Amino acid sequence: MCGIVGYLGPKEPKNIIIEGLKKLEYRGYDSAGIAVIHDGKTKRVRAQGKLKNLEEKLISESFNGHLGIGHTRWATHGAPNERNAHPHQAGEISLVHNGIIENYLEIKAELIKKGTEIKSDTDSELVAHLIWEDIQKTQNLLQSVKNTLGKIVGAFSILVMWEKSPNELIAFKDGPPLIVGIGEKEHFVVSDVQAAIKYTKRFVYLNDREIVHIQGTDVKFMNAKGEPIKKDIVTVDWSEDQVEKAGFKHFMLKEIYEQPRAVAQAIAPYIDTDTHSILLKNIGYEMTDLYKKIDRVFFIACGTSYYAAMVGKYLIEQIAKVPVETDIASEFRYRKPVMPANTLVITISQSGETADTLAAIRLAKECGAQTLSITNVAQSSIDREATGHMYMNTGVEVGVASTKAFTSTLSLLNILAVQIAKVRGKISVADEKQIVQSLLAVPSQMETVLSYDKYFKEAAAKLAEFKGFLYLGRGVSFPIALEGALKLKELAYMHAEGYAAGEMKHGPLALIDKDMAIVVVAPSDDLIDKTISNLQEAKARGGKIISIGTGENEGLKSMSEFYLPLPAAFWTTNPLVAVVPLQLMSYHLADHLKYDVDQPRNLAKSVTVE
Ligand code: F6R
Repeated sequence: MCGIVGYLGPKEPKNIIIEGLKKLEYRGYDSAGIAVIHDGKTKRVRAQGKLKNLEEKLISESFNGHLGIGHTRWATHGAPNERNAHPHQAGEISLVHNGIIENYLEIKAELIKKGTEIKSDTDSELVAHLIWEDIQKTQNLLQSVKNTLGKIVGAFSILVMWEKSPNELIAFKDGPPLIVGIGEKEHFVVSDVQAAIKYTKRFVYLNDREIVHIQGTDVKFMNAKGEPIKKDIVTVDWSEDQVEKAGFKHFMLKEIYEQPRAVAQAIAPYIDTDTHSILLKNIGYEMTDLYKKIDRVFFIACGTSYYAAMVGKYLIEQIAKVPVETDIASEFRYRKPVMPANTLVITISQSGETADTLAAIRLAKECGAQTLSITNVAQSSIDREATGHMYMNTGVEVGVASTKAFTSTLSLLNILAVQIAKVRGKISVADEKQIVQSLLAVPSQMETVLSYDKYFKEAAAKLAEFKGFLYLGRGVSFPIALEGALKLKELAYMHAEGYAAGEMKHGPLALIDKDMAIVVVAPSDDLIDKTISNLQEAKARGGKIISIGTGENEGLKSMSEFYLPLPAAFWTTNPLVAVVPLQLMSYHLADHLKYDVDQPRNLAKSVTVE
């Protein structure tokens, strides 16, 4: 993953790069570094660990140049320490890199044979050596970058500067995102627009195998062979304060609280609030026609987005009566999937950059499928691959653990299920109205359950005594159980498993004792009685139950150590509200245990490597 920031312009680059890296720290936080031209020489400062360590080292440093590059790392090749931190240097070349060089062993062997001294364990440093080797012959940075590209295999994006040419910055993208910010007589090259949004709202998204060559105030785009290409400038309307904590202790807590507004924003373009119906007009003719013809839907995603996809399966099958399969992207791309004619592949990705999901949508297209992307980032790589588009519209999600993007996606999946059903004539006006009314009620229902914030803050110490957590649910609540368990694992580093409640007796029941908490998502739907019988089995074996049910469900309440009532809702929207207490529970457990909530260990938000 890793975050990249480059700057060429009239200002002092150090602070611009550090501020930019702060916005990108969600992409990786093992180590960080910056290189700036100063008095005609490259000055490089790197530090292991979080960005604040680099900042401390930089306090006494000043730079007088106008060109600089910076990087925040998520280690792939080589331990997360200072010598492996970027920028890497070879001679007069400095380089930052995001991605993986697949043929690095051959390159390394070749370089060692020639007597090159390699100072890190990374694949990235090798690229700097290749460029340095070449530039000593060409004396031309662009030419040497192009010559080097032919020698590297993998998915990689690089940003390069040459000490001898302090007015020149070159980037190449093949895989991980790179975006060029176009400012007033200044340019930025960043992994995510957040890193430069303070200075410009005008961006150019590089496609794979494209180069940007910035020289002074001039910027040129070209393909890997150096042939000029025309690129569109996209105006991004995110504001800088969307990436601030706004008084909350953590971004994650702020984003949990933003969910009522996020859901309202996500559904607004699709709903006629006078008739309580779902609009078809913004699907586009192509998709309307497609929804009529499809025989099968495949959902493909990773992590939390995959759990949203699982909810999507229940919604589309039950509302639109179309068979649905769900796939984890990293499995889909290697299982040689059979795609019958008239298959619609729907990818879900908050970032729009997840490497496996991107590869999966490309594979689906090769197999002849039609594609729809649900993402939070318009113009992201996955969005650009798809024919149809739906946007979460939640604004930036900074916390590494996904919250508001998940619930916004669930609201879009309600809309999508109805749209497909409508086009195929499978839904009555009354049923549509019921789904719309339930969706419109979600923001205020979420406000009600946000009051569990205080409750979990107080309960965190007691909950932290449990040795393990088993999350259970049935139907649409099963993916919510999986999502609850994932949140607890990634934030509080506690052992948690999500299970379909009916599967308990096929194995997990053996885990249950007094130290095991059973978190059950059991809103009052058709399956509630079955879930309660499963709980009896767990309770009889000493398990301690934390349950989330609808209203004052006395049966559930009497079995539970902790009972959390939800407002009554239709089955289609229960997951949106039921997940909120689970997010709050994980948040408070992690905070109580003094873990880094926004940047859990070993994780990164945008997983742009396989
Ligand atoms: C968990 C989480 C991850 C992401 C996953 C996919 O809280 O955030 O599991 O959901 O890495 O990311 P996107 O949605 O960007 O493709």
